Amino acid sequence: MKRSLVALGLLVLTSTGAPAQQASDTIAPERATGLAAATVVTAKDHMVAAAHPLAAAAGEKVLTDGGSAIDAMVAVQTVLGLVEPQSSGLGGGAFLVYYDAAAKRIVTLDGRETAPMEATPKLFLDENGAPLQFFDAVVGGRSVGTPGTVMLLQEAHNRWGRTPWKDLFAPAERLARDGFAVSPRLAGLIAAEGDRLKTFETTASYFFDAEGAPLKEGAILKNPAYADTLAAIAGGGAAAFYEGPVAEAIVDTVRMAGRNAGVLSLADLANYRVKLRQPVCVPYRALDICGMGPPSSGAIAIGQMLGMLENFDLKALGKDNPESWRLIGDAQRLAFADRERYVADTDFVPAPVKGLLDKAYLGERARLLDGGKALGKEAVTAGKPEWDHAFNVGRDAALELPSTSHFVIVDKDGNVVSMTTTIENGFGARLMTGGFLLNNELTDFSFKTHDDGLPVANRVEPGKRPRSSMSPTIVLKDGRPVLAIGSPGGSQIIGYVAQALIAHIDWGMDVGEIVAMPHLINRFGPYDIEAGTAAEKLAEPLKALGYEVKAGEMNSGLHAIELAADGLKGAADPRREGVAIGK
Ligand code: DON
Repeated sequence: MKRSLVALGLLVLTSTGAPAQQASDTIAPERATGLAAATVVTAKDHMVAAAHPLAAAAGEKVLTDGGSAIDAMVAVQTVLGLVEPQSSGLGGGAFLVYYDAAAKRIVTLDGRETAPMEATPKLFLDENGAPLQFFDAVVGGRSVGTPGTVMLLQEAHNRWGRTPWKDLFAPAERLARDGFAVSPRLAGLIAAEGDRLKTFETTASYFFDAEGAPLKEGAILKNPAYADTLAAIAGGGAAAFYEGPVAEAIVDTVRMAGRNAGVLSLADLANYRVKLRQPVCVPYRALDICGMGPPSSGAIAIGQMLGMLENFDLKALGKDNPESWRLIGDAQRLAFADRERYVADTDFVPAPVKGLLDKAYLGERARLLDGGKALGKEAVTAGKPEWDHAFNVGRDAALELPSTSHFVIVDKDGNVVSMTTTIENGFGARLMTGGFLLNNELTDFSFKTHDDGLPVANRVEPGKRPRSSMSPTIVLKDGRPVLAIGSPGGSQIIGYVAQALIAHIDWGMDVGEIVAMPHLINRFGPYDIEAGTAAEKLAEPLKALGYEVKAGEMNSGLHAIELAADGLKGAADPRREGVAIGK
C-alpha cells in the first residue's frame, strides 16, 4: 500500500483538546527524504495513542469521563476491532503490560490464543510429513486458536476497572450500527488481498460490494453482527463470548471451513483462561525495561539485546555511525539465535529465562561483538545459558507476517496500559463470525516438529500458546513509569521496539522522533533497511562491514507515551493511521 494513502483525513487533538489537522508531511513523508518526526502531542491529565483516530477518541472519552486506563482499554480494543478489523479484535489474542499506580508495580496479563485440545504437533504438516505452505495453513479453520482478547478485557476490568463494564461497549456498538468510513489503509489492504479474502462467503460479503469490488476508502461500513456480539458481551460478560450462541458460531465456522477445517471445540472456549504472569524486567543504563515474558519472546530478546549493548557506548558512537548498527544488528542476531532454540510457552516447555538474561551470560555473548566486522553465519548460534533444567531442543521454523496493533494509555492516576493485540496475519484466518475475524495465531507455532532429531520447543501441542514476538513495554526509572511503547510487525517488532528504546535512552530522541525513525533490523543475517529513508545511507557502510543488505518497506506501528516531569508526550507512527490524543 502506498504511504500517501495514509495521509488522508486524520485528525489529532492538541494538548488543549482542540482538533487540528495533522500536517500532511508528518504523515506521508517523501520516501526519498526519509520520515519526518511525528507530531508530539502533549497533555497534563491523560492520554491515548492508538492505531485509529476513532479508537483513540473512544478511549480518551472514557478517560475524560473519569474512567481508568483499563476502562479505556476496553473501549479502544472494541473500536479497533471494528475500524481496524484486519489487525486485532474479539477473535484474536493480546498481551497487556500494566503499571498499577496504586500498587506501584508492573503486572502482565497473557491473553494469547491456545491450541485446541484436538490439535497435534503435526497440525501444519501435509500427508507426506512436509510443512504446509504458509497461506495454505493460514486460510481456514486449521490455524485458529482459542481467542483470548475478550477474556483479557474482562480479567483486567475485574481487577482494575472503574466504569461499569456494559458502558464501555457503547462507542463501538454505536459505530457498528451507524457505520464508519473505511480508512485508506483498510481499503488498500482489502484491495491488495483480492481473492484470498473471498475464500469464505461471510468475509467476502463484508469486505466487497455486491459486484465483488473491494470496499473503497470512505465507504460507510455497518456491522450489525458485531454490534450484536458487543451487546451480548456488554450484558453477559466474557461468558457470553466463551459459551452460548457466539461460541457455537465460532466453533461451527472453524470446523466447517471447507478444505482447511479446524478442530477448535466448545470445550476449548469454555476452558480458556487468561494468565497473570510475572513481567520480564531488565536493567538498561539507569532504567528498567519491563515487558512480556513467555509465551512472548519479546521482552527476553529485547532484554538480551540491551544487556549485550550495555557493554558499548552507543551514545558516544551515535545514531549515524555504522558501528552502532553493527553492534545493534549482531546483538539482535545473537538474541534471535537463542530465541529460536529456547523460547516457547513455558507452561509446556522449560526455558532458561533467567539464564538468558543473566548479566554474566550476556557479557560473554557481548564479547562476540568485539571483532569490528559483521559476524559470520557460523558464529551466530544459540548460546549455553545457565540452566537447571537439562532439556535440549532443536531450532525453530516459524514465520510471521504483517497485521497487529499496539496502543498505550495513561490515566490521571498514573496507571499505564501498554497492550499489543493481534489476529496474527492481516485479516487473520479470513474467517468471520459474529462480525469479527478469527485469528490464525496457530501459525506462530513452528510447522516443523523436530530439528535434527530434537523436538522443537515451539511445536504445536494441545492447550499450548504459540510463541510470540509481541513486545508491549513499560520503562521504569526508580520504579516509576517513564515510557510506554510497542509495535506490530511480526518478528520485526523486537527490532522496532529495541531501536526506539536505544534512540530514546542513548541518543536522546523524543517520542515523535523514535516512532518515525527509519528502521534497520537484522534478525537472521541479512540487514533489512527501510527503503526510501535516510537508513539507506547506511547501506554501503554496512556492506563494507560484511553484511548483505536488503532495502524494503518496514511497516511498524509504534505508539508511545512518555511520562515526563512536565507532563505526557505521545506520538503515533507515521507509517500507519494512528494518533495520540490527550488532555
Ligand atoms: O505474536 C506475534 O508475534 C505475531 N502473531 C504478531 C503478528 C504481527 O505483528 C504482524 N505484524 N505486522
